[in-house]
Amino acid sequence: MGGFKATCGRIYRRLTTFLRDSCLARLSIGRLEKVADTALRFRLRCHEYVRQKQARRHPGIQPEIRSSMDGSTLHRSILEPRPPWANLDTDTPAIPGMLTPAERAYYAYLPRFYRGLGEVVELGPWLGLSTHYLINGLKHNPAFTDKQLHVYDDFTWRCAWMNKWLDDTGIPPLENHACFLPLFEQFMASSEHRLAVTRCKITDYDGNESLPEITWNKGPIEIIIVDCGRPLQVNEAWYRVFAPYFIPNTTLVVMQDWQNYKRVPEEYWENTKLFTDSKMEALDMIHEVAGGGIATFIYRG
Ligand SMILES: C[S@@+](CC[C@H](N)C(=O)[O-])C[C@H]1O[C@@H](n2cnc3c(N)ncnc32)[C@H](O)[C@@H]1O
Repeated sequence: MGGFKATCGRIYRRLTTFLRDSCLARLSIGRLEKVADTALRFRLRCHEYVRQKQARRHPGIQPEIRSSMDGSTLHRSILEPRPPWANLDTDTPAIPGMLTPAERAYYAYLPRFYRGLGEVVELGPWLGLSTHYLINGLKHNPAFTDKQLHVYDDFTWRCAWMNKWLDDTGIPPLENHACFLPLFEQFMASSEHRLAVTRCKITDYDGNESLPEITWNKGPIEIIIVDCGRPLQVNEAWYRVFAPYFIPNTTLVVMQDWQNYKRVPEEYWENTKLFTDSKMEALDMIHEVAGGGIATFIYRG
């Protein structure tokens, strides 16, 4: 322990000496940018450890959320190497998608905690890979009998960032701004009757301007999965529409791309953490998925 403390002390002294203004001022612009990036990575990592240690200290979620399927309890899990969803057997459907293996497992795991207290909503399914795992999990949950997963997307093809996800799939890319709803329906054919699908826009975005705006009038929401972009504007837009229907201490808000705020160098439009920090009284983080971008929050009201 003494050795560890001494090493930490040495690193800290070297860092502070190196980062003194007199030293920094002599560096080239390129080197200064590298130092800034390294410092940012260091800061992000420290914050990850802070969140992880806090979750390990208080892993329980109050009030308890118990699975309707196997009686297991939902716990906080922040970047754990072996989270409860790690060993879940997931299939690999022939649906193009943007999910990592850890994210697929997470979407297969979460539906078991649906308790029938409200609706389940997914924003931004693209071709339906996330939808596939969510609906297959929900279908096996007795609390979901007679329910549907409410899915919203503008289904507007954007060649600039969608085409590359079709590489090696044999599916030809669509024309820019074409409607890809038929492709989604084709991939989701076996679950069609369990999905309520709406084509609409959450905010104006590259080709969707003429679509109707998203609305919600179907009552309380128990789980909402959000994968429709990282700018503050789009996140504020869905929150304005859906948050009035969240159930305090119950609703789970899953943000697919939350961890994108960790990009180094920073991107001005990666605003996920800015968004959740601005609602920190309402959104209490319970999961941060290692090997993916997902973070999940419980709504506190
Ligand atoms: C990253 S993709 C989702 C990937 C998908 N969840 C999967 O499993 O592969 C984001 C989706 O959000 C939709 N989207 C983005 N911005 C939107 C907006 N302002 N309104 C409606 N849909 C939007 C896009 O059309 C796209 O289908």
